Formats: sequence, C-alpha cells, structure tokens
Amino acid sequence: MKERSNFSSRIGFVLAAAGSAVGLGNIWRFPYLAAKYGGGTFLLVYILLAITFGFTLMIAEIALGRKTGLSAIGAYRTLNKKFSFLGWLTSIVPMIIFPYYCVIGGWVVKYFASYVAGDGKAAAGDEFFSSFIAQPVQPIFWLCVFIALTAIIVLLGVQKGIEKASKIMMPILVVLSVVVAVYTITMPGAMEGVLYYITPDFSNFSPMTILAALGQLFYSMSLAMGIMITYGSYMKKEANLEKSVRQIEIFDTGIALIAGLMIVPAVFVFSGGDKSQLQQGPSLMFVTLPKVFENMGDGGLIVGGAFFLLVLFAALTSAISLMETVVSILQDKLHWNRKVTCLVVALGAILIGIPSSLGFGIWDHIQILGMSILDFFDFLSNSVIMPIVAFFTCIFVGWIIKTKVISDEVKISSRFRGEKMFVVMIKYIAPIMIIAILVSSILNATGIMVI
Ligand code: PHE
Repeated sequence: MKERSNFSSRIGFVLAAAGSAVGLGNIWRFPYLAAKYGGGTFLLVYILLAITFGFTLMIAEIALGRKTGLSAIGAYRTLNKKFSFLGWLTSIVPMIIFPYYCVIGGWVVKYFASYVAGDGKAAAGDEFFSSFIAQPVQPIFWLCVFIALTAIIVLLGVQKGIEKASKIMMPILVVLSVVVAVYTITMPGAMEGVLYYITPDFSNFSPMTILAALGQLFYSMSLAMGIMITYGSYMKKEANLEKSVRQIEIFDTGIALIAGLMIVPAVFVFSGGDKSQLQQGPSLMFVTLPKVFENMGDGGLIVGGAFFLLVLFAALTSAISLMETVVSILQDKLHWNRKVTCLVVALGAILIGIPSSLGFGIWDHIQILGMSILDFFDFLSNSVIMPIVAFFTCIFVGWIIKTKVISDEVKISSRFRGEKMFVVMIKYIAPIMIIAILVSSILNATGIMVI
C-alpha cells in the first residue's frame, strides 16, 4: 500500500480515531432518541445491542484493519476482490454524516459563544433555540465556523495537540456531566423523568425502537463506516484487542447514559411532566440544558459555558475523524494534494450542510418521508446504509473469509473470551436480525406497511 502519511501523523490519526467514538452522538443524539423511543425500553435495547452487536462488529472491524494494515476500501479488497464494493459503500457513510454533523457542531459553537458573551439567561428562554435555527444566515455562519475549526486542525495536522488536550477535557466532561446529572435528578419533579428513563415499558416498543437503537450504536461507536478499520490498521499487534474494544464500549455507553440522565428528567421538570415534550428530536439538548443551567443561579452561567466548551471539544475530535476519513479516501482515489482536498471537502460539507440547516427555517416545509432534511440524512446513513454495511460485514467475516481469520488476529494479543458469542453473532444472529429490522422499518418509514 502506498504510504499516505508519515509516522507522526499516523499516531495523530490513531488518537483521533480513539476520540472519534465519544462525541455529539453520546451527548446530543442518544438522549433525544431515548426520550423519543420510550426511555427505559430504548435503554434496555441499546445496552443489549451494545454488548452483543457492538462488541461483535467492533472486534471484526478493528481486527480487519489490524490484519490488513489498510483502511476500509483496501482491507475488503485485499481479502476478497468481490467485496471491494463494501469498501466503497462504507466510505459513503462519513460523507453523508460529516455535513450534518457540522450543522449540530455549529449550534454547539453558537451556544458556547452565547455563554461566553454572558447571554446564558437568554439561551434559557423558550424561543431562543427555535428563533436561532429558523434564521437563514446565523446557523450557516456557525456551521462555517465549526467546519473551519475542523479543517484547520486536519490541515495543520495538529490532531496530536488536540488529542492531548482532549485527554484532559474528556475526563472533565465526564465529571461535569455527572454533576449536572445529579443536579438534574434532584430537582423537584425529576423523579418521574428518571423512572421514565430507566423503566422499560414494552407498550411503546416497535421494530423502529430496535432500528433506532442499532443505528445509534453504529453512530456512537463509529462503526459501519470504516473508521474502526482504519483505527485498527494503526493498532500494534501486541495491543490487547478485546480489552480495548470493551473499554471503548464501556466509556462510550457510559457517557451516553449519563447524558440521558442529564436531559430526559429535565424535560419532565420544565414541562411539568408533559410527555409530548420528549418528542422534540434534535433540538432537545439545546432547549433543555440551558434551563437546567439557569436554574443553578449565577454559577449556572459558568457551568453552562464550561459544558458547551467541553461538548465542542468532543464534537471536534469526532468531526476530525470524519473529515480525515473523507479526505484520505479522496486523496487515495484522486491523488489530489492534501490542501486542495481539505478545501474541497470543507466547501463541499458547507454546501451539503446548508440544506440541513435551512430545513429548520425557511425550508421547513420540505419534508422527506416525513422527516426534516437533517433528520433524513441522519436516517439514511444510520438507519439504512450503516445496517446494510454491517450486514455485509457479517456475511464477509462469517461466511467468506470465515471467523477464524478474525479469531486468530484477536488471539495474537490475548485470549479471546467472547469468541463463541462472536462466532454465533456474526454468522447467524446479527445478519438475520439486521435484515429483519431493516426491511420492517423501511416498509414502515415509507408507509408501505405500518407496524
Ligand atoms: N461517534 C461519534 C459520536 O458519537 C460520531 C461519529 C460518527 C464520528 C461517525 C465519526 C464517525 O459523536
């Protein structure tokens, strides 16, 4: 394989890939899905999927990368020419996610800026968020700021510095989230929300719940988009693969669970128990958290500012990994120089991001399958293409190259405790379930069949 970067930027990429998993997916996306899909029911399904599906796929992807030393396109092609298509399909995912991820990243920058400017009180107002996203220009401005930040880091190759900083910021984010969560759940009226969040109620269970949880799992753990394959390709043979996977999973899921605890009960407090407020979707975090901060009194302004700064960091490390992946795919294929590629990807992301942004304002009449533009892109990548990629990955590993290839790779560095489950999952359970869920939910979403 042609070397595409020198040693030090490889290390930078490894670190970026590690920081890739924890991001807006955990703090912004997980809580609103949990709120929407029945709280405890969603939580239970998510955790079950994480320890089975998530574990299986992450082991497979990292081992594929480490075995071949290549990223997705090369890895699939080297092991079986007929599966080159899978590498390409995988590569489409970050291209879809990156632009709309930056729209949300832009919202985070805006909130951070508001707190710094001392507008935290205003941010807690009822109309603040809705009037902000409805404007044509402002959200696009912040989208550009977020993309510029990401592009500068990718271009200057300063991931290393950013990753060092995020090693400090991430633990602070965890601590601060726990503090905010404890504050939230001790507010009067929050208990009802806590119960909603942790008690499964199967009357609101549907195939859509599983699909949403599955999509969230892929998204949050940066699976089914080739990122973990690339990450694996930079992993040392002696590094314990199974243990690393478990740790990434625990960390990623832990942060998501805490984020939910911060937000879902707060919805109950501020809406006086009005459950319809749980359906807000992408805006949930931005509407709810400033109210919690305001409730804290004067200190809340500082807590709010610090919180959005930390979230911004988490979002940036994820955005860097997305952009880096897109840039390197294009560079490998088109042989453009890095500066030009970064510029093209940044401009492309702005252009594609703009409709997602306008979809909350002047284009809010445009609905695709009943979804806003951003929601549609999100649905397309997380609930359609990623499950398809995951399905073929299972077939590829389970039936084409066979599971022994992966097991042998894992065993280079340690015992493989979860081997039996891995084999059964990847050969039988995972592919069958993915197809069943995918078909039923697409029929559902397109209105052909209502389940
Ligand atoms: N996993 C990241 C998050 O939770 C999002 C992401 C998706 C990052 C895909 C990279 C690739 O926010």
